Amino acid sequence: MSAVTLALVGAGLRGQSYARHAVASGAGRVVAVAEPDPHRREAVAAEFGVAPGLVYAGWSELVAAGRLADAAVIATQDQLHTGPAVRMADLGYHILLEKPMATSEDDAVRIAEAARRNRIMLAVCHVLRYTPYTRVLRGLLAEGRIGRLVNVQHLEPVGWWHHAHSFVRGHWRRQDTSAPMLLTKSCHDIDWLVHLFGQMPVKVSSFGNLTHFRASERPEGAADRCVDCPLEPSCPYSAKRLYLDCLADPGRHFWPLGAVTEARTEEGVLEALRTGPYGRCVYACDNDVVDHQVVNMEFPDGATCSFTMSAFTPMAHRQTRLLGTHGFIEGDGEKLRVVDFRTGEEEIVPGQAPGPSAADGHGGGDQGLVAAFLTAVASGDPALLPTDAAESLATHRVVWAAERARTTGIVVHLDGRP
Ligand SMILES: NC(=O)c1ccc[n+]([C@@H]2O[C@H](COP(=O)([O-])OP(=O)(O)OC[C@H]3O[C@@H](n4cnc5c(N)ncnc54)[C@H](O)[C@@H]3O)[C@@H](O)[C@H]2O)c1
Repeated sequence: MSAVTLALVGAGLRGQSYARHAVASGAGRVVAVAEPDPHRREAVAAEFGVAPGLVYAGWSELVAAGRLADAAVIATQDQLHTGPAVRMADLGYHILLEKPMATSEDDAVRIAEAARRNRIMLAVCHVLRYTPYTRVLRGLLAEGRIGRLVNVQHLEPVGWWHHAHSFVRGHWRRQDTSAPMLLTKSCHDIDWLVHLFGQMPVKVSSFGNLTHFRASERPEGAADRCVDCPLEPSCPYSAKRLYLDCLADPGRHFWPLGAVTEARTEEGVLEALRTGPYGRCVYACDNDVVDHQVVNMEFPDGATCSFTMSAFTPMAHRQTRLLGTHGFIEGDGEKLRVVDFRTGEEEIVPGQAPGPSAADGHGGGDQGLVAAFLTAVASGDPALLPTDAAESLATHRVVWAAERARTTGIVVHLDGRP
């Protein structure tokens, strides 16, 4: 099969990662790029050998040129997904679209409708669905190893420094410029849990708050920036410690350091912390998204699920317990402990090796997603994707329902249909 040609919309951290996976696999070729940041634009165009005439300053300019490739990777920030997704679907591009699909339900509906109307494949980057671990776990459930699934307990350990980086100082800190945390982060988990249960929930409740990263928690004597703060050495959220440590670790240069600065010197990093958003005291930012949240779901067959997202953990793989009528599975993101109630025997089933972070490719999910998308596009077979725009819209709707439950204190009833 010849390589699928790709137009890259948004050459930021995610866009670059997907493009690299596509090119490294030999199954994809980046032929056009749209990116307003001149440094990123030129670097990416050079890296992928994009012809100068196909390098654009933004998605509007790219779409004005008509259809330039088989497929598009849309990896702009959350509030900039709908415009390019709808326009590119109308031009007939197949689309790999970053999550969340959109920041409002109306916009997500417009995107799903554009995909349906144009009969294109649109895969939302719910990378957890594409990890080897998920495939193994779903295989165990399908084989009936634990009988009927009755309850799932799932923890998303965001990690203290990752939370401070992305959800206090970074892009996803405010609902008005991004979206609620459950949408920007945990839409992965809600989508994954629905995927495991194989059915949509009918009832959702949720609680969650911004408890710690707020002015009222600021220790006396703390400065507005870590570089000026006398308490910095003993603060768990020290930006100096976090980013200077990244400098010493090439594995963390692309992420999280790449979000902070292009500099790779101590002076360059300190300058970014003196002047940029990532050097701010976590108790003196303009953040408003929650730092912990729980969601409970009930499914049509009576099965239940409890989900917890928390900042106050090490950054680790998700941890999941699956309770069935004939057995139990405990998964730590790398391996699965299966207990068979019929024999009392335990088995450890290996799942995957790579780590949980963006720098690790999300446990192999980034690579698996790109491979599945390119294969589906190359063969013209949407069945090669584990989900489509309509199902992604349905799982996003569960997220919006849970947010409604959290903010109003009610149990939200859904119709259970995909
Ligand atoms: N699937 C995952 O696991 C995962 C992980 C992290 C982030 N994300 C999502 O990926 C998306 C991108 O995140 P990121 O970390 O790469 O952000 P980023 O800020 O590094 O990249 C976004 C890029 O879009 C560019 N851009 C802005 N306006 C544009 C325009 N008009 N046309 C084209 N490009 C434009 C920006 O200059 C920037 O380079 C977000 O929606 C985010 O929520 C997904």
